[in-house]
Parts: sequence; C-alpha cells; structure tokens
Amino acid sequence: MPRTYCSISHAALRHNLQRVRQLRPEASILAMVKADAYGHGLVEVAKALQPGVEALGVAVLDEAIVLRQAGIKIPVVLMQGVFSLQELAAARIHDLQLVVHQQRQLDWLLQTPGTPLTIWLKVNTGMNRLGFRPEMLPGVWSQLQQATAVRQIILMTHLAMADMPTESLTSQQHHCFMACQQSLGIADAQTSLCNSAGILAWPQLGGHWVRPGLMLYGASPFAAQCAADLQLQPVMRLYSRVMAIQQVRAGEIVGYAGCWQAKEDQRIAIVSCGYGDGYPRTAPSGTPVAIEGAIYPLAGRVSMDMLAVDIGHAPVSVDAEVELWGEQVPVDAVAAAAGTLAYELFCKVTDRVPFYQRIH
Ligand SMILES: Cc1ncc(COP(=O)(O)O)c(C=O)c1O
Repeated sequence: MPRTYCSISHAALRHNLQRVRQLRPEASILAMVKADAYGHGLVEVAKALQPGVEALGVAVLDEAIVLRQAGIKIPVVLMQGVFSLQELAAARIHDLQLVVHQQRQLDWLLQTPGTPLTIWLKVNTGMNRLGFRPEMLPGVWSQLQQATAVRQIILMTHLAMADMPTESLTSQQHHCFMACQQSLGIADAQTSLCNSAGILAWPQLGGHWVRPGLMLYGASPFAAQCAADLQLQPVMRLYSRVMAIQQVRAGEIVGYAGCWQAKEDQRIAIVSCGYGDGYPRTAPSGTPVAIEGAIYPLAGRVSMDMLAVDIGHAPVSVDAEVELWGEQVPVDAVAAAAGTLAYELFCKVTDRVPFYQRIH
C-alpha cells in the first residue's frame, strides 16, 4: 500500500442509499454526484449506486458528459442548468435534464426547438441563491408549458437551513413552496425539496423526489448528531502510515511555529499525510488520529506532507497504519476541529492520493 491512500466502500454507499429509501420509501432519488461525487469518484460512485437511484445530479455539463461517456444511461440532471445555447445543444445530444433557474435559460429553451427535455424549474423560496421568485412563477410556468422543447416540468426548491431542525426558515420555505404549487394550480405536478438534512430532519416536507448528497457518503449534516446516530456508514477512509518516531524531552517543541510543547519526555509519531494530501491545515492540536485502533491527539501544526501525533509512551512503530478519518475517526470530528465541514474535506483530497474502490 502507498504511504497515504483513500479507500471507498461501496457497501457503505449502498447501506446509506438504503437509509434514504427507508426514510422516504415513496420518493424517487436524485443522487448528488457533483464535484466528483463529493470527492469519492464520479463514475465509480454512479455505477455503485445502480440499480437503486432514479437519477444522478451533477453541477455542470462536463461532469454529465463524463457519466455518459462511461456508459451511464439513467437520467442525469444539470443542477446549475446550462450556461449558453451551445451547452443547451450539448445537453440535448447527451439526453440531460436541466434545472432552469433564470430567465436567460428559459429564453434559450424557447428559442431552440429540438428534442423535448425534462426541466427542473427552480423556485427561490428564501435561500436567495438561485431560482425564480414566487411572483414570477405563473408566467414562467405557462411559457414552459407552451414550449415544444419541454417534455415534463418538475418544480423544485432548495433549503437553506434544514440542518438546523428548530429553524423557522425551513417551515417558511415549505409554506412558500406549497403556495407556489397552489397558485399554479398544479397539485399533481412532480416536486422536490429535500437535501440530506431535509430527508433526515424534516419528514413533513414531502416531494416526489429527494436529492441526497452528504448522507450518501456517510457524513452528518448536523452539528449535534454524528453519522452513526443517523445510522449512516462512512464511505471514504483516509489512511496513512507512521513514517518516523521521535523521542522528545519535556519542554521541546514539535513542528512549525513551535505550537506544541512536550510536558514530559515522550514519543511522537510522524505521519506521512499533510495538507498537500488534503488533510486540513487548520486542524488544531488535539484533533483525533487513529493509529492501529487507538485514538491519539494531533500535536502541533499540520505541514504539507506530514503531521505529528502525541502517542505518549505507546509502543507505536514505524509503518503502523493510521486512519485520519473514516471508521474510527469520524470525518465530521476532523471537520469540526478544523472549523469546516465534511463536504469540504471530501472535496479537498488531492490528486496525489490514490483511491481504492472496495466492493465490500
Ligand atoms: C440543489 C441541491 N440539492 C441537493 C443537494 C445535496 O445536498 P446535501 O449534500 O446537503 O444532501 C445540493 C448540494 O449542494 C444542492 O445544491
């Protein structure tokens, strides 16, 4: 095995998919595989999710083309829609479904007759990132209905604060969305509201389609609940190995800037993984690191290619296996210590880290 590597468990991925099914048995699943399947490997994850999901969500055209070139045949949705008329033509060639969130995308659709497409019409119910404001919807809806280039319209919105279960904005977004449906008189049209946090914490928010991302990869969208509490299993494990052991004396420092100082004579394990591999530089002393099944605290600053671990007097030796996150160290714990989210840690594993897909 190389010094540092990632292992991706397809069994955990499928377990988490089952969890979505269990929570929303009636809903169709649009699985989010954008950003290289949250850093887990776009094509491998897309294949591992089949059969079992009804559609795949990517952010941009290039990601969708990679899926089609890999032989993925199920519906693929461009979550940001198209950025030009040329992209619209390419979307037709590759049989993609499109989010339409602004007027120019609608204009392009109306200008260019062609194979009818399934459109995910995005309404801005309060997140104020993408989408038509509710008062614009009736006009947009009727234009889309008249367009020959449209096969089906699915009404969708995105929740800004579903990870905060007591936050009233989610209820307001829900009510706004229902009011939109009512004003359009489309009680029977297909709808979609929920990301992972919505699926897990807001059962009252229905919708024909759910759009899980993070939970599929086995991390928690909530600050106060870990993935295991949510019955999710970690899909990515970041491993490395001990490359050297240092014997330090009381009062000596370890690493750049001398941020960590030994209180007694003790041993330090130097692990061959740093921010050049995607381990967060902001992870402070004390962040958990697992070495051969035991948890130890990170000691001092994370360097580009290495980090140091306070192993006290433990009989750890060179070449010992280290888990930076995965089974023994939840990725959410590392992310919280580093002041970020699992989303970002997953996406930031760098190209020099090889990936191994594990079927079991
Ligand atoms: C429109 C949309 N739906 C669903 C998701 C999935 O969110 P999560 O990963 O929190 O489940 C995202 C992710 O950013 C998104 O942009």
